[in-house]
Amino acid sequence: MSGDAQSSATDSGAESGATGSEAKSSAMGSLLIDGIGELTTHGPQGTLTGAALVIVDGRVAWVGPSEAAPAADRRIDAAGRAVIPGFVDSHAHLVFAGDRAAEFAARMAGEPYTGGGIRTTVAATRAASDDALRANVGRLVAEARRQGTTTVEVKSGYGLTSKEESRALRIAGEFTTETTYLGAHVVPEGVPADEYVRLVCGPMLSAARPYARWIDVFCERGAFDPDQAREILRAGLAAGLGTRIHANQLGPGEGVRVAVESDAASADHCTHLSPADIDALAGSGTVATLLPGAEFSTRSPYPDARALLDAGATVALATDCNPGSSYTSSMPFCIALAVREMRMTPAEALWAATAGGARALRRDDIGHLDVGARADLSIVDAPSHVHLAYRPGVPLIHQVIQGGEPI
Ligand code: NIG
Ligand code: FE
Repeated sequence: MSGDAQSSATDSGAESGATGSEAKSSAMGSLLIDGIGELTTHGPQGTLTGAALVIVDGRVAWVGPSEAAPAADRRIDAAGRAVIPGFVDSHAHLVFAGDRAAEFAARMAGEPYTGGGIRTTVAATRAASDDALRANVGRLVAEARRQGTTTVEVKSGYGLTSKEESRALRIAGEFTTETTYLGAHVVPEGVPADEYVRLVCGPMLSAARPYARWIDVFCERGAFDPDQAREILRAGLAAGLGTRIHANQLGPGEGVRVAVESDAASADHCTHLSPADIDALAGSGTVATLLPGAEFSTRSPYPDARALLDAGATVALATDCNPGSSYTSSMPFCIALAVREMRMTPAEALWAATAGGARALRRDDIGHLDVGARADLSIVDAPSHVHLAYRPGVPLIHQVIQGGEPI
């Protein structure tokens, strides 16, 4: 694991980058947050107590001890609260219509999760208007933001035709730049698998491409096999998309191997890993993105986060928000699950939900609060980040600041 990931040492440290006077001279439109009880930077300065942070032009311009902070146009007194980087939710399926509460209730009464319910959502999504889909994405993005999420990746995958997949991505793009083409979610009913893979790699990819940054494939028994997944990721790469993959969710398989071979940004789920999968991830540039909301909601065993961390893999946490396997938009809930159920420390879980998510999206401007970072952060109504897991289910996000602007 990278060094800064584990950093929780208190460092009342020196000022970073910009000096006080430099920050002051460009203080038009600047915002000072002082009185920060605990500031998690995820950078060289580590975690600071009694800290302050100055934002200029939507970026972090100064970090240091509260008493040394330069003046700014506006000021927020954090009054001893903790400040953390905004959550980076690097895996969510938000473009859909309907819900599957009955499927969830049946599962809780003993039915297994198979992924077959995806087709129920496909039918509801195809029947919905653009405005209805847009309203649903907007509602979920706002819900996530209230819980501290400042970046969210949004996948298509409930359309499964060229027209429907490009529509989903166009709507997703109204809310985020992190849009992912998941035409390869399942093979739609009545279409031969080979024919569908050709469509996903050809005309559907061309229709999706203008609206997508990433391509994803559900590599799993009952969805797409490893060779089909390789072919789909290759086609996406050739079209200029970055690659990510749903891997080893419902059972062991080659998904993680496919991800590492193709230098995918992320292998997501990683619920059923062999020791060789763990070693492969640890020795690669592929992030292991864990989605404990899915295990919670499908009553499945959680992934072995400890084995991944101890082997040196980079771990991210994300919600997998979708109407079937994980209908939560809450990153604090995922942090609480990761700590309680997956034996991650609160500091590791916070890192995975912020800097880890940023790595999974190959972004270096978010997930941390060093000078120069995008000013995406939350003021937490608690003295430390530990409370995110220590007080599960409690709405602790006091104020969210996105791109330097209080929301
Ligand atoms: O990540 N695994 C595939 N896709 C989703 C589930 C989608 C659904 O059940 O609607 C997931 O869990
Ligand atoms: Fe998913």
